[in-house]
Amino acid sequence: MATGTEPPDTDPHPHLGGVRSPARAAIDAPHLRTDRWWLAPAATAAGLLAFIVYSTWRAFADADYYAAPYVSPFYSPCLASNCATMHAGPNADLFGSWWALSPAIIILIFPLGFRLTCYYYRKAYYRGFWASPPACAVAEPHRTYTGETRFPLILQNVHRYFFYAAILVAGVLTYDTVLSFRDEHYAWGHMGLGTVVFLVNIVLIWLYTLSCHSCRHIVGGKLKHFSRHPVRYRMWRFVGRLNARHMQLAWASLLSVAVADFYVYLLASGVFDDPRFF
Ligand code: FES
Repeated sequence: MATGTEPPDTDPHPHLGGVRSPARAAIDAPHLRTDRWWLAPAATAAGLLAFIVYSTWRAFADADYYAAPYVSPFYSPCLASNCATMHAGPNADLFGSWWALSPAIIILIFPLGFRLTCYYYRKAYYRGFWASPPACAVAEPHRTYTGETRFPLILQNVHRYFFYAAILVAGVLTYDTVLSFRDEHYAWGHMGLGTVVFLVNIVLIWLYTLSCHSCRHIVGGKLKHFSRHPVRYRMWRFVGRLNARHMQLAWASLLSVAVADFYVYLLASGVFDDPRFF
């Protein structure tokens, strides 16, 4: 029922947007944050920017991504015949010899799409790069806020499909980690510092992938009675516990994949030899 006190339906001052719009209820009491709320989005933007710069350099470098038995996670699996690891890893020459660009570009689309459409990263880069919204209880600087209801952001809904692709990529990286127990002559029984780096990386990659919100819905969604699905209930509980740490796992796995790649780069470019434990 109309009370006669509602704000007008149309904004008479469209140049004043967000909480400053005259169409919004006026609140006299201070209610917007005055602390250094910008620190978190600024740190987030700096961290993401550093990774973007590093991964772009490495993806286009097309060099120093293989030091037997280690294959950089940026270049695995190799799907073109110009790849230096063609004889070593879980490769399939799907693209043949016509592909002349860096082989990393073929495969990085999938983990990149997975992280770009991730619920956590969306929040992170919307806040860090676009200030939309900047933070809770901070005035929206943009005149309008449409969320993800329009093109192109509505495409973020493909996240579930990137999750399926990410499972495959994690499987390939798992295989690479198993192969890191071979030595440079492909004989089993080797363990070097690179093996440890790969092990830490693959554990974090799996934890991040399984903590995905889509994964949580896939294992526990659309059920009316958990009591009739005890296995899925346990899986949902497990994924739920991981999901509560999704942000931390997102950053830890982002760092570990960069470290694993950089380690291979150092070996392949001859900076030092892989220390061996046995
Ligand atoms: Fe972050 Fe799916 S929500 S990976």
